[in-house]
Amino acid sequence: MTHEAGWAHAPGALRAPSWLREPSDPNALVSQLWPQTAHKRDGVLTVGGVRLTDLVAEHGSPTYVLDEQDFRARARAFGTAFADYDVFYAGKAFLCTTVAQWVADEGLCLDVCSLGELTVAERAGFDMARVGLHGNNKSLAEIEKAVTLGVRRIVLDSFEEIERVAEAAERLGRTQSVMVRVKAGVEAHTHEYIATAHEDQKFGFSIADGQALDAVRRVVEAPSLTLLGLHSHIGSQIFQTAGFEVAARRVLALHARVSEELGVESPEMDLGGGFGIAYTTQDHPADPAQLATEMTKIVEHESAALGIEAPRLSIEPGRAIVGPAMCTVYEVGTVKHVTLDGSASRTYVSVDGGMSDNIRPALYDADYSCTLASRRSDAPPVLARVVGKHCEAGDIVVKAEFLPADVRAGDLVAVPGTGAYCRSMASNYNHALRPPVVAVRDGETRVVVRRETIDDLLATDLGNDLGTDKGMAP
Ligand code: LLP
Repeated sequence: MTHEAGWAHAPGALRAPSWLREPSDPNALVSQLWPQTAHKRDGVLTVGGVRLTDLVAEHGSPTYVLDEQDFRARARAFGTAFADYDVFYAGKAFLCTTVAQWVADEGLCLDVCSLGELTVAERAGFDMARVGLHGNNKSLAEIEKAVTLGVRRIVLDSFEEIERVAEAAERLGRTQSVMVRVKAGVEAHTHEYIATAHEDQKFGFSIADGQALDAVRRVVEAPSLTLLGLHSHIGSQIFQTAGFEVAARRVLALHARVSEELGVESPEMDLGGGFGIAYTTQDHPADPAQLATEMTKIVEHESAALGIEAPRLSIEPGRAIVGPAMCTVYEVGTVKHVTLDGSASRTYVSVDGGMSDNIRPALYDADYSCTLASRRSDAPPVLARVVGKHCEAGDIVVKAEFLPADVRAGDLVAVPGTGAYCRSMASNYNHALRPPVVAVRDGETRVVVRRETIDDLLATDLGNDLGTDKGMAP
C-alpha cells in the first residue's frame, strides 16, 4: 500500500527483514560469516592474530583485511575435494600478485579475464601452462599476449574470436588450446545480472540453436587451434546444484555429439564457478567436499546415460575461495536516528567508505552483515543501517543489522564476506581513494595492495599538471 507521502512511509518500512533475528548479545560474532581466525576479545575483533584496532591505527580505514590462513585453507579445500579436477581460481573475484602466488602455492590453476589480470599472473611468475583466459570480447592485445605467453587455454565466446585467435596463433607460429563457451539455457537461481546460462544474455554459444556445434566445427577446422572441450558457467552466488545438473546434462550431450558428428574427441570440460557463500544468516553454502561429490555424481550419471566416458573436468571458483577470507573495517563518522510516524526507528551509521569499496548492495541488492569491532558494549541492540559517505541515498553498505544502541563516532565496524567482487569492483566515485588490502597472519600485517593516494588519482588527470607539485600529499 502506498502512503500519501510516498513509498518510504508505507507501514513496516523501517522493520527488520524477516530473516534478521534480534541477537541476545549484539557483541557476539556469527562465526560462519567470518574468516576462520576471527574472534573477539573484550569486544575487539581480531583476525589473523591482529587486533583490528591496531590494524586501523597503523593502516587507516577503510581497509580490506585478508586472512591468509583462511584463503589458503579454502583454496586447499577445493584442491583436495576436487582432486580429480583442475581447479582454476577465478581472479576476477580478487587478484593481486601476492594472491596469485598463494593460488600457485596451493596447487590451483588461475582463470584471468583481461590484460590486467593476465599481467598480474605474469608478474607473480604464475606457470602459464596453468592459466586460462576468458572474456566475451577479448582485445587483440589480450589474445596476442595470452598466445605469446603460452596460456593453457583460451575460452572462445564468439565466431569473430575463433578467427581472431586462430589468426593470432598462426601469425605467432603457435598452436593454441581452446575451449568453446556454451550457454546451456539454464536460469540459475541468482540475481539476473550474474546469471549467465539462459539464452537472452551475452555469454557463450547457444546449444539449443546449433551455434555451439557450429563453433566447435570451426575450431576443429582451424589448423592453429586445438579443441580442449566445452565450457559452461551458469552464474554466480548459486546454492542449488539443480542448475549445474541441467547444464551438465546438456553440455555432455553436446560433447557426445561433437565426437559422433565431427569425429573429434574433446578431452576436457569446464563447469565454471558460481558456488555461493554466506553473507548473512540466510545463506547456507555447501562445503567443497559436498559440492565435489554432487557434481561428480551428476557428470558420471549423465555420461553413463549417454554411454560416453566422462571428460576430465575443471571448475572455476572465485567467490567461494576469497569471499569469506576478507572483511572490511570502517570507522563510524556520524550516527543519525530516524523515526517514522513516531513509531518505527532505524539508526543510520555513516562510515568512511561505501559504494566505492563495495558496490554489491547498490548493484545486486546484496545483503551484508556487520559487527562493532573496536569495543564491547552493554547497550541493547538497535536496528541499524550502515551507509557510506557518497552522494547517493543508495550508498548502503549493510541494509539491516542489529548493532549496540550506543554505536558512535570513532567506533570501528567490520563487514564480513567482502573478499569477492568488492576490491575488484571498487571505484573512485566521488574521487574516493580505494582502500588497501592488508593481509594478516600469525599476528603480522602485510600490505598486499596499498591505499590509493590523491597523487594516484591526479596522475591520470592531465588538465593542470601543477596539482601534484603543490604539496597535495594524501
Ligand atoms: N568462471 C566464469 C566464466 C565467470 O564468469 C565467473 C564469474 C567465475 C568463473 C567465478 O564465479 P564465482 O565462483 O566467483 O561466483 N560481480 C558479481 C559476480 C560476477 C561473476 C562474474 N563471473 C558479484 O559481485 O556477485
